[in-house]
Amino acid sequence: PSLLALAAVLAYLLGSVPFGIVMARLFGLGDLRKIGSGNIGATNVLRTGNKLAALLTLVLDAAKGGIAVLVARWLLAEDAAQLAGLCAFIGHIFPVWLKFRGGKGVATFLGTLLALHPLTGLAACGTWLVVAIATRLSSLAALITAATSTFWMFTLGYGIGFFLGIALTVLIYLRHVENIQRLKAGTESRIGEKKKTGP
Ligand code: G3P
Repeated sequence: PSLLALAAVLAYLLGSVPFGIVMARLFGLGDLRKIGSGNIGATNVLRTGNKLAALLTLVLDAAKGGIAVLVARWLLAEDAAQLAGLCAFIGHIFPVWLKFRGGKGVATFLGTLLALHPLTGLAACGTWLVVAIATRLSSLAALITAATSTFWMFTLGYGIGFFLGIALTVLIYLRHVENIQRLKAGTESRIGEKKKTGP
């Protein structure tokens, strides 16, 4: 149990590293909190126009979840891997370094799923890509991906991830309340647009 608790804390601290903010500083893009949606994720980094910084944010925020899962599974077991993925995800959305005001968890969610069960992860990434390409709405892609993730878990053979999948989906929806309002109002900004949508 103490090893599990240690894994949970380390995964949380890893998930807490806000790579969007780190990249924005490294590339001199200004304060992400004052750009676009004000979010610290790759979608908002892209609104600065810097595609490399956005790609690095996406990959590194995803890697946080993936690495937490793989290390916990390697050192401990599958339940520890699930717990580590959940804690890395919670770290991203409630990071200790940013006074618990973090991101929306989509990249970390995808990285966690890829490491937990690659087939499910690939199906989720595919779902995100299809919706994002069809609509150019990153938030809508995330919401549909989250909602369908437990379906993919069951159909592709990771039924033991059901409760984790539900928990992550609920948290993603809670973090996208403003996006859902903008989607309903038809004011959500599309991928590639740099229009300010308010914090
Ligand atoms: O990954 C977060 C995305 O779903 C929405 O981001 O910046 O448009 O609120 P944003």
